[in-house]
Amino acid sequence: MSVAPLDYLFTRRSIKIVQAPGPNEADLALILQAAMSAPDHGRLQPWRFTLIREAGIARLADLSTDAIRAANLPFTPEKEASVRRWLGRVPLLIAIACKLDHSNTKIPEHERMLSVGAAVMNMLNAAHMLGYGAFWSTGLGTYTDDIPEILGFDSLDYRFMGFLSIGTPVKDMGAAERPDFQQFVTEWTGG
Ligand SMILES: Cc1cc2nc3c(=O)[nH]c(=O)nc-3n(C[C@H](O)[C@H](O)[C@H](O)COP(=O)(O)O)c2cc1C
Repeated sequence: MSVAPLDYLFTRRSIKIVQAPGPNEADLALILQAAMSAPDHGRLQPWRFTLIREAGIARLADLSTDAIRAANLPFTPEKEASVRRWLGRVPLLIAIACKLDHSNTKIPEHERMLSVGAAVMNMLNAAHMLGYGAFWSTGLGTYTDDIPEILGFDSLDYRFMGFLSIGTPVKDMGAAERPDFQQFVTEWTGG
């Protein structure tokens, strides 16, 4: 059965609860290569990705809990338990960062970040097309000082943008309800 290309875009939805198997190496390469087709003002290639699996995910669960508590961010025991339950099944996390270049004053920081966002969108779509569930999260200590630094993304040179989880959906999520585009669109006729 073939699926019309646009139908892939229309049927994509974020799927948080996933389990093994994660993408095999060939599929992972396709997902990461899809990120390289993102629009990129000035060809700065600002996207940076770090793969985290198995022992790395278990360690991140501990370190992010510590970092969130140390930063005094809200984190109830129930929330911690639910994050640990979630991470206990996730086969692959991809940490996402945007590389800054302070010598480049022509292309503003937000354009680089948008470019990384577009790269992640391509990865979400590629994962969906290959039959995986994927979810972009800015939990897990994304907004602490410690977690980006532990992952090698110090705040002088990078904007840390969270984590993409990818795996096999635990259950069929069905279709997501989407708004009608017309409520977001107007036409300016020059007057
Ligand atoms: C930059 C970014 C960060 C996000 N961080 C979180 C998050 O930390 N927790 C969460 O529940 N959803 C987060 N979301 C939303 C989900 O990734 C997802 O988009 C949302 O659940 C809606 O699902 P949909 O993509 O199928 O519309 C984030 C989305 C973006 C774009």
